[in-house]
Amino acid sequence: MQNKIIKKLYNSKIELIKKYNKSYFNKNKSIVSDQEYDDIKNEILVLEAKYDFLESKYSPSKSVGFKPSKNFKKANHRVPMLSLSNAFSEEDLLNFEKKILNFLSQDKNTSIYYSAEPKIDGISASLTYKQGKFVKGLSRGDGRAGEDITLNLFTINDIPKIILSKDFPDEIDIRGEVFIQNSDFENLKEKFANPRNAASGSLRQKNPEDTKKIPLNFIAYTFGFEKGLNQKKQSDFLKKLNEWGFKTNPLNKTISGIKNLINNYNEIEKQRSSLDFDIDGIVYKVNDFALQQRLGNVANAPRWAIAHKFSSNKATSSILDIEIQIGRTGALTPVAKIKPINIGGVVVSNATLHNEDEINRKDIRIGDTVTVERAGDVIPHILSVDLKKRPKKSLKFNFPKICPSCGSKTIKELNKITKKIDAVRRCSSEGYYCDKISIEKLKHFVSKEAFNIDGFGKKIVENFWKLKIIKYPQDIFNLDFSKIENLDGWGELSVQNLKYSINQKKTISLERFIYSLGIRHIGLENAKLLSKHFVSFSKFKNLSKQTDYEDMLNIDGIGDTQVSSIKSFFSNEANIKVLNELEKVLLIKDAILHSDDGLLNNKTFLVTGKLNGISRAEVKSLIEENSGKTISSVSKKLNFLIIGEKPTKKKLDYAKQLKIKVIDQAEFLKMLNKTS
Ligand code: IVH
Repeated sequence: MQNKIIKKLYNSKIELIKKYNKSYFNKNKSIVSDQEYDDIKNEILVLEAKYDFLESKYSPSKSVGFKPSKNFKKANHRVPMLSLSNAFSEEDLLNFEKKILNFLSQDKNTSIYYSAEPKIDGISASLTYKQGKFVKGLSRGDGRAGEDITLNLFTINDIPKIILSKDFPDEIDIRGEVFIQNSDFENLKEKFANPRNAASGSLRQKNPEDTKKIPLNFIAYTFGFEKGLNQKKQSDFLKKLNEWGFKTNPLNKTISGIKNLINNYNEIEKQRSSLDFDIDGIVYKVNDFALQQRLGNVANAPRWAIAHKFSSNKATSSILDIEIQIGRTGALTPVAKIKPINIGGVVVSNATLHNEDEINRKDIRIGDTVTVERAGDVIPHILSVDLKKRPKKSLKFNFPKICPSCGSKTIKELNKITKKIDAVRRCSSEGYYCDKISIEKLKHFVSKEAFNIDGFGKKIVENFWKLKIIKYPQDIFNLDFSKIENLDGWGELSVQNLKYSINQKKTISLERFIYSLGIRHIGLENAKLLSKHFVSFSKFKNLSKQTDYEDMLNIDGIGDTQVSSIKSFFSNEANIKVLNELEKVLLIKDAILHSDDGLLNNKTFLVTGKLNGISRAEVKSLIEENSGKTISSVSKKLNFLIIGEKPTKKKLDYAKQLKIKVIDQAEFLKMLNKTS
């Protein structure tokens, strides 16, 4: 009898991993975090080790196609492999160019040239060449570190192993896409769901001989680390790649003007079905490397590039129900449960309805027949309602005025900046009063960018919450492991692993710690700013004793919205209790104030007036790159006021009064040993 139960449990875990693998390999999209994936994998392996009657061809111990997090050695990319932001419309592209021109402080009529490159839907790889020899190849991994798949890449004919050209850089990481041609895929249809899946499976074989059996191709399109690269433009670099023996996409073009980008996009979309490789959009990159350098990156993607995705897939379905999900910040998100429908190979049964306003605007009701769109990796959404098919007795959807989880009033706030009422309705409770908010806070707390506790994923948070094992963040560090060991699916080994990963994360940087608290409006960037400002946990915690929060407004990037959110966080007793309890179990490291060897070290700046050929954003990055700081108002803390055209008189007068040094653009650039 017991064996039957164990087998059932085992099978349910196998079903889960099958689902995760399918999504990962068919769509290269993880529907769970790495931790959750590894969790399930571990649980299966532990069960198998314990009960020898358990076996499945889908088990991670058997199948070749499983995510091989530990199969290959990890290695760091010397220059991170970034991802790209997406554009879906002309408007998105206009916005993209506008931001570029603003950042570069260029007139809106300035022509920017782009390298327009069809985006092959394969697996990216980074190939290191030293003195013309291919010495190492890494997969993208998480962008910072990848898997060492050198031997497998060696089997690909398109990858030159030795390059003798005189002008090939001394050292360079050539990056591009590994893919399989559709014609070759024909013979592999039985084994893999699509070409991308086949390429990914092949590239990750443990035995390079197996990789060899599946014909892989490589096209090159960018570089990472380099020493001795002489090209100044992407288009020249692409040409050189060909000369050096790499394949590049024959449909690459250099284009300026959004209208022309759109024409090219339409042209290529027409050819899409007749190409022998799958493409899912066009990548646009600012062609000039010097401009790319100036533009730099935001978070994980460059400002100088974007992926213009091909049109999405649409389908008709009907709304079975409208569910309200509650997020970490209390936002009530309506989700339409729709009759499951296959859209472009993916079965869709949920579509986001965004917020209350969206439901009202489109008058979306339960029972409606709707057009659902699935675009790229974005959650499917409802495009339109077919009013002709609306059932006679249908009722307008009433958005809940009280929180479905905790019964608190739901409110719509006034956005202080836009002076408009928010489209989002929120649960008005604070701290850990609302169960749904608390669960989401805990998920955020353990998430990748916060505590990143291995093996402690969303599912475990939900499970432990249900079993009343955790309620507050500190509970994670005070777990009763003997209780967990007796739970279904847990055993000695998995509990040991969990204990180990939790213990490992007891030391944390102040920046991550602040982020992990999930304070509204305090994302990664703001957490970093706050950590630099407060330096130590105790100073940060002191906010609970303060009434005056004005000082924080001096942090460039922190505004009224953030300050009032921090204020309300610190005025909630439950939050303070969490801080006190966490302090007992954690070691929160002081912020390391970044490199103090830059030219502007210990100097603070403020810009007033319009500068010439350089935007505020660029000045700010320049200052920070050189260890300086920007602040947002004239005060005694300010060292330099940089003035451009038409400076604010009040700022200038006040700076003079405080005897602050006033400099112009040229003097500022001189401080950086730059001339213009
Ligand atoms: S450039 C920062 N160029 O798209 C620049 N990427 O979301 C990022 N891709 O992981 C890479 N074709 O797998 C670049 N011509 C192209 C590309 C391309 C396909 C993929 C690549 C990358 C993803 C970015």
